[in-house]
Amino acid sequence: MVCFLACGKKKDSRGAAETTGEGPARWTIGMSQCNLGEPWRVQMNADIKNAADQHPGLRVIFKDAQNDSLRQRAQIEEFVNAGVALLIVSPKEAAPLTPPVAAAFSRGIPVIVLDRRILGDTYTCFIGADNKKIGRAAGDWIVSRLAGRGRVVELKGLMTSTPGQDRHTGFREGIKGSAVEVIFEADMKWLEPEARREMESALARFRNIDLVYAHNDPGAHGAYLAARAAGREKEIIFVGIDALPHEGQVYVKQGILAASFEYPTGGREAIAVALNILRGESVPKEIVLNSRVFTGENIDRGGDWVGME
Ligand code: FRU
Repeated sequence: MVCFLACGKKKDSRGAAETTGEGPARWTIGMSQCNLGEPWRVQMNADIKNAADQHPGLRVIFKDAQNDSLRQRAQIEEFVNAGVALLIVSPKEAAPLTPPVAAAFSRGIPVIVLDRRILGDTYTCFIGADNKKIGRAAGDWIVSRLAGRGRVVELKGLMTSTPGQDRHTGFREGIKGSAVEVIFEADMKWLEPEARREMESALARFRNIDLVYAHNDPGAHGAYLAARAAGREKEIIFVGIDALPHEGQVYVKQGILAASFEYPTGGREAIAVALNILRGESVPKEIVLNSRVFTGENIDRGGDWVGME
């Protein structure tokens, strides 16, 4: 068992160990990651670690819930029982992760909720991009790319998680009033193999598909692989979200995706906010991160900001 308090010289108001100058970490942060199966989440943890490494007073302990809400709940409880000074939680699903986050917060542990939301507002600070705005921007972009008319497959992220809900609602707002029609939609749960399977069904059912809008780049890539296996990848446009430099942006450069919308991990910002909280400073309840769109046409100049024209 890890003892977080053993090395402290005095205690601050939160009961976390404090030391001065060089030496052991002053604050231990527990980071509850819902899953490490996607490159985007590996990047989030790396962003958190890199930012925390700049501050000798911080130590971050990571737990991976392996895409299991019950496991994530238990891991949050473990962090609370171990006496961490602060929690960062990127929850798998909103409803099942609301009680453990609220319980930690009620026990006086500050909680930063990152990327996916929980229900209500029993936490310290939420950090993430505006998924409805990204979905709407994707809808607008798709209407324009299809010149106002076309047959679209929507491969949705896990619909019990808030980015899936918001990327869907925003997208429908974006295409509203156009002749862009969603002919097939399915929940691929953020997972590339699920997206590939769902796309196989869509391909079997529909002879003409103009475009696939997937809620993340693994989903868009899975759909592309299904279309390629059916010899139909050249007749379909693929659009995704995340735009990691080593994933979505590469797909755009290779011409596999026509567009990818950036979804920043917020890892660096989470550490900056954590430090503010731990130093007793006040922080906003919500921090909204900006997003860029990358296309074949703009990628060499670093994409274009979404909703800032
Ligand atoms: C990774 C991921 C990303 C997506 C984010 C939404 O698990 O699916 O691809 O943008 O989560 O929370």
